[in-house]
Amino acid sequence: MYRFSTATRPRRLRQTPPMRSLIRENRLHPDLLTYPVFVEPGRDTRTPIPAMPGQYRLTVDLLAREARQLQALGLARVLLFGVPEFKDARGSASYAREGIIPKAVKAIKDAVPEMLIMTDVCLCSYTVSGHCGITDAQGHVLNDPTLDILQQIALSHAAAGADVVAPSGMMDNMVQAIRAALDAEGREKVSILSYAVKYASAFYGPFREAADGAPQFGNRSTYQMDPANRREALREVQLDLAQGADMIMVKPALSYLDVTWEIRSRIPEALVFNYNVSGEYSMLKAAAAQGWLQEEHAVREVLTSMLRAGADQIITYHAKDMAARL
Ligand code: PBG
Repeated sequence: MYRFSTATRPRRLRQTPPMRSLIRENRLHPDLLTYPVFVEPGRDTRTPIPAMPGQYRLTVDLLAREARQLQALGLARVLLFGVPEFKDARGSASYAREGIIPKAVKAIKDAVPEMLIMTDVCLCSYTVSGHCGITDAQGHVLNDPTLDILQQIALSHAAAGADVVAPSGMMDNMVQAIRAALDAEGREKVSILSYAVKYASAFYGPFREAADGAPQFGNRSTYQMDPANRREALREVQLDLAQGADMIMVKPALSYLDVTWEIRSRIPEALVFNYNVSGEYSMLKAAAAQGWLQEEHAVREVLTSMLRAGADQIITYHAKDMAARL
């Protein structure tokens, strides 16, 4: 048998667990995970989300217990989504000072003051149209009139104690508008996590059921990005950082890891979140339920791929299950 050189032997470093651990470049940790929480009106109710096995919509009175549970698991951050009592053309339930999200923020802060609370700032669950902005008679989504409302939403969340507001509607200048509104009310400590790079994706399907926010006509392609584009993502990030975004997000995560990597390499100072979205969760849960793949192994691999691509933080529905195992 020919004797190959022993100098070029990567397998040498894979022989034992401590050796593999020595060369491991990325590690999952609960502190890298943010858990999305859906809040619905009512009392003492935990409504299962059919397309997202293991996920629920909770009423405000159940949030204190939930927050304590998360804290016990080492999860320090939540992202809140609200399902309102009513919808109208302007989505006015979205900025009510005693609306579902302000109540949820207060309930969590009362129970676990250290919990970092981020809130989704968008209109799609609150408008009759199900669009992320207000619409005219022809069904066009109007950019600047929507900004006025996004400001009101952000202020209502900030007044309740939110630490981070996360505009997700992909309206032009949403970050600038929200920063200005927060500063004008003395809320300079509230940070902005911009969904800067949000693609028009099929993977939001289960979420729209969960948050009751599916567009009633048309689609989101006039505001969300075309999945074919990567250079455009850099432009979106640069604009949002220039407008005062403290952190930015790439969403969905899995089909766009190249975009995360591109941002990480070209704009190294950006704090980058990945959103491991509902469809990514459901896809994996469905396959695991069929016995077609091993869930924990697959989840670890998927989440680690986001770290490898350069994400600083991952928003994921797997956070609770995963944190319990880390
Ligand atoms: C609201 C919003 C969406 C998601 C987060 N914020 C849905 C959408 O844009 O249709 C999706 C999250 C997920 O799928 O888990 N604009």
